[in-house]
Amino acid sequence: MSGVGSTEPSGGAGLAGAGAGGTVEILDELEAGELSIEFEGAEPQELLGWALERFAPRLALSTAFQAGDVVLIDMVHELDGQARVFSVDTGRLPAETHELIEELRRRYPGLQLDLLAPDAGQLQRMVGTHGPNLFHQSVERRLLCCNVRKVQPLTKHLASLDAWFTGLRRDQWASRSDIRKIEIDHDHGAIVKLNPLAEWTEEECWDYVREHDLPTHGLYAKGYTSIGCAPCTRAIAPGEDTRAGRWWWETGAPKECGIHCAVETGGLEHELHAILGEDADA
Ligand code: ADX
Ligand code: SF4
Repeated sequence: MSGVGSTEPSGGAGLAGAGAGGTVEILDELEAGELSIEFEGAEPQELLGWALERFAPRLALSTAFQAGDVVLIDMVHELDGQARVFSVDTGRLPAETHELIEELRRRYPGLQLDLLAPDAGQLQRMVGTHGPNLFHQSVERRLLCCNVRKVQPLTKHLASLDAWFTGLRRDQWASRSDIRKIEIDHDHGAIVKLNPLAEWTEEECWDYVREHDLPTHGLYAKGYTSIGCAPCTRAIAPGEDTRAGRWWWETGAPKECGIHCAVETGGLEHELHAILGEDADA
């Protein structure tokens, strides 16, 4: 693999640090594509190290505290004790997620973990109009809840960054089977999206967890295999797909919340406009 270890890969576009909404490209599609090919087959730490050197401090790791996410926290922390990590606390997370956060704070004392909250006004309007458990009313209402509780705070945070790491893997779901390790994130101001675990399998994550004796989310021991908000995640039955426990009551809808792909249904945009008001035009 050539060029991966260097901080200035060949054919680079500008490194202006404009972030979302800026006018200067951080990385162009061609370079992102070429780099992705170069990093294929490389260990996650190689991409993490390269990106930290190139984009920090305008780079952060997004985390949902699943097994792969904990692996990445460990790797990033090992490479750079000052690395930034963030997670959106939707307000509906299971207690076990908060317990794991406390455990991670103890294990990595210097960890710079930002817990982001949804906008209080948007939340109040949404819950006041549709009730707290609107996600059961329709796919549109579920996506509305995901948008207000998760997508909006994440998007706002990404606007201050040039690049972000995710724990996405190709083996998670059909819609993720062709993700690249380095992508231009057109849903978030064309910043750089880095997926260091793209090639890893679930089993490789668990091997790393065991080898490094990492703490893990308490719901795994109760049969959960993919973990999000408490009311929208359940344990799976033997033989079911690992993401089958997410929004399990929905049929024919994407098992996505909208942070990794813009979900547009028409109805969702209408609902969003009513709840977000002027924020929707921002
Ligand atoms: S989701 O879109 O269905 O919720 P999933 O739980 O598979 O995503 O997690 C995939 C990756 O998305 C995580 O590894 C993490 O990088 C990011 N992510 C998911 N949820 C959050 C969150 N609440 N806050 C920050 N990042 C998140
Ligand atoms: Fe709302 Fe459920 Fe989405 Fe969480 S996963 S933001 S509770 S719809």
